[in-house]
Amino acid sequence: MTIRDVAVIGAGTMGNGIAHLFALHDHPLTLVDSDSAALRRGMEAIERNLGRQVAKESITAEERAAALGRIATAGDLDAAHAADLVVEAIVEDEEVKADVFRTLDAIVQPQGILASNTSSISITRLGAATSRPDQTIGMHFMNPVPVMKLVEVIRGYETSDETHGAVVALAESLGKTPVTVNDYPGFVSNRVLMPMINEAIFCVMEGVAEPAAIDTVMKLGMSHPMGPLTLADFIGLDVCLAILEVLQGGLGDPKYRPCPLLRQMVAAGRLGRKAGRGFFEYAERG
Ligand SMILES: NC(=O)c1ccc[n+]([C@@H]2O[C@H](COP(=O)([O-])OP(=O)(O)OC[C@H]3O[C@@H](n4cnc5c(N)ncnc54)[C@H](O)[C@@H]3O)[C@@H](O)[C@H]2O)c1
Repeated sequence: MTIRDVAVIGAGTMGNGIAHLFALHDHPLTLVDSDSAALRRGMEAIERNLGRQVAKESITAEERAAALGRIATAGDLDAAHAADLVVEAIVEDEEVKADVFRTLDAIVQPQGILASNTSSISITRLGAATSRPDQTIGMHFMNPVPVMKLVEVIRGYETSDETHGAVVALAESLGKTPVTVNDYPGFVSNRVLMPMINEAIFCVMEGVAEPAAIDTVMKLGMSHPMGPLTLADFIGLDVCLAILEVLQGGLGDPKYRPCPLLRQMVAAGRLGRKAGRGFFEYAERG
């Protein structure tokens, strides 16, 4: 099947990046967010980030204007009815996502594929909330979406070969490298990444070293381009906590227990870059 019209649900960190990417690759799309202020901030981020690409001469001013012209905005899921593909990028909460999938199932045209950008939640269970589990799939983009090459494609238990093939071909047409994995908690990316981030947070809590020192050890010693605490701030500490809870609940192993300091920081609103402060301070929010 050909995927042309797209709807992106959630205009936050990931949703606005996903919309940016599709719009630059000629897809008409609707960006939906239930929070009008978030929708406005999402559109401002897209305009700013496309502007940066013009300044770097990776796209022209005409391409920027054309991409912006392909994006419509809406506050309600009804706007997704004609989409060939819906990419959901809302809060990492299974009940909230399942509810959105149930609603989308009743709205979106019968051929439409329902994809989730979830970092860790079961695609099989999201599919089971719909009448189209064969057309439900994980399309896990990395942050920042326009820059990062990987798309982790997650096959739910019932995802059909046709749906999988269409999404892999689409990811390639967007200039990405899709890697297919099966549906287990955290998939591959976060099952490997989050225990490392969590351990770095335990090191802060136990006073093993200061955050900057921990990041420097991992950057210079392990050739990581970014230290684990800088990366946690970038992802969002609330998102990291939600993923660790899915790993702990889904795999049942205490090695995934979230560090108490991570819980404290989330409770205090130190959510990382998007809040202006996490393990490090940032001059501007986002
Ligand atoms: N942040 C990352 O680095 C990253 C990376 C990969 C995947 N993800 C995943 O992407 C998803 C989104 O993460 P984010 O960091 O962009 O979150 P975010 O908090 O920045 O944005 C979420 C947006 O969804 C909106 N929203 C919430 N409920 C909604 C609903 N019912 N209908 C419409 N809009 C709704 C909110 O208003 C908000 O604007 C999560 O599942 C997360 O695990 C995040």
